Amino acid sequence: MVRADTDSRHGMWSSRLAFILAATGSAVGLGNIWRFPYITAESGGGAFVLIYLLCVLVVGLPIMLAEIIIGRRGRQSPINTLRLLADESHASRLWTLIGWSGMLVGFMILSFYSVIAGWTLSYTTTYVGIIASGSAGLADPQATFGSLLSNPWTLLSWHSLFMVLTMIVVALGVEKGLERSVRILMPLLFALMLILVGYGMSTGYFKEALVYMFEPDFSRITPAVILDAMGQAFFSLSLGMAAIMAYGAYLPRSIPAGGTALTIGLADTGVALVAGLAIFPVAIANGLTTGGGGVGFTFTTLPHAFNVMSFGNWFGLAFFGLLAVAAWTSAISLMESPVAYLVERTRLSRPQAAVLVALGVWLLGIGTVLSFNEWSDYRLFGRNFQENMDFIASNILLPLGGLAIAIFAGWILSRSDTRDELHDMRSSTYALWRWLVRYLSPVLVFLVFLSAIGVLDLSSDEAAAPATEQTDSDSEVLLEDSAES
Ligand code: TRP
Repeated sequence: MVRADTDSRHGMWSSRLAFILAATGSAVGLGNIWRFPYITAESGGGAFVLIYLLCVLVVGLPIMLAEIIIGRRGRQSPINTLRLLADESHASRLWTLIGWSGMLVGFMILSFYSVIAGWTLSYTTTYVGIIASGSAGLADPQATFGSLLSNPWTLLSWHSLFMVLTMIVVALGVEKGLERSVRILMPLLFALMLILVGYGMSTGYFKEALVYMFEPDFSRITPAVILDAMGQAFFSLSLGMAAIMAYGAYLPRSIPAGGTALTIGLADTGVALVAGLAIFPVAIANGLTTGGGGVGFTFTTLPHAFNVMSFGNWFGLAFFGLLAVAAWTSAISLMESPVAYLVERTRLSRPQAAVLVALGVWLLGIGTVLSFNEWSDYRLFGRNFQENMDFIASNILLPLGGLAIAIFAGWILSRSDTRDELHDMRSSTYALWRWLVRYLSPVLVFLVFLSAIGVLDLSSDEAAAPATEQTDSDSEVLLEDSAES
């Protein structure tokens, strides 16, 4: 069915570039620079990276395209979009569950995301202090990180500040809030990462880092590692919870969706790989061998580099400041769909809805704050509160959401519907995409789940005890999660 163009009531992206920047801003964040390196380290490197890249290519990109066109066809918040499209296709309204689950997952992810983003704010001010006082650098990165995590009130303050910042942008709305922040700051972050890679090359451990990241040791591929890699692909690309679907609703129909999805996917994957190439040489120079990592990986590793680089403290300041911005543009996308939904379904204004959602997320985030100190001994399935939030959201709910989105795009929407959205795509590319969302992506996600069901507990052991196996004592000192010690 050919759809005429209409505008979303929430506003529209002003150009193709604006959408690409916003969606890239959503995708590029802590997932690339905090989560990707430490999960890679915990999974032992090469094999994990290879599977992650495969997941991005055959599962991630097709589903991203599916989210974009579903959103654009519905032009509303994900829940209402799915209701509209299900009705048009005479399908069950149960498909709106994708949107409901997406809202839940958004709350879950943002609740811990905001606490971690708080660390970047804290480190930014730490580097301001270091520069202002003229001291040499961060004397003991491990101890600095450990003392940050041990104080719930400090963590809570930074978490609160980050939530307020996120709330303000979402309250301002699509054009004024989202577009502006990504335009200048994201390219700056990327340039800075490249400088750090340059430093990594000078450490003498760059080759080791390349081997670590790209030489697959197939003996390390287990169902748990595959599930982790798939979860990371969904997390990093912002897929599976209808965040990109919400953004797609503001995309003019004149803009080709296929090339746009590809650009976003490449940018996101590029930043993750560059982040790895910046961090692993430094980590290896400081004693990382095979296992290890821990939630503090990025925060305890890079300061070692900043301590010895010239102008290192300025680099430290710029790095954590820009990482905070990257986290910010991602957090916004996690809030957009619940806020848009509240605006559609209630009498709340956008700012009121933003306050309400932020408050809920903030409350849930207290669990994460406490999981690094007061509650660090409370474990379920071997994981603390934050790890459970992350695991359930990223490794289970995001892939399941993605599976449902693929099926919706491939089986519920008709061929003529999706072809109408992708009319500017070459017919062979379109056929490939449709085959991927109908068959390969859902089947792969499903198989990964089946194979992982028996090992969910195994993976929780890894989560509970990072950095113990196959790690030499040096790296344990550097990399073990100090909060747990
Ligand atoms: N992709 C972001 C990152 O890598 C996080 C994020 C933003 C996200 N929106 C999302 C993750 C939606 C999952 C779903 O940091």
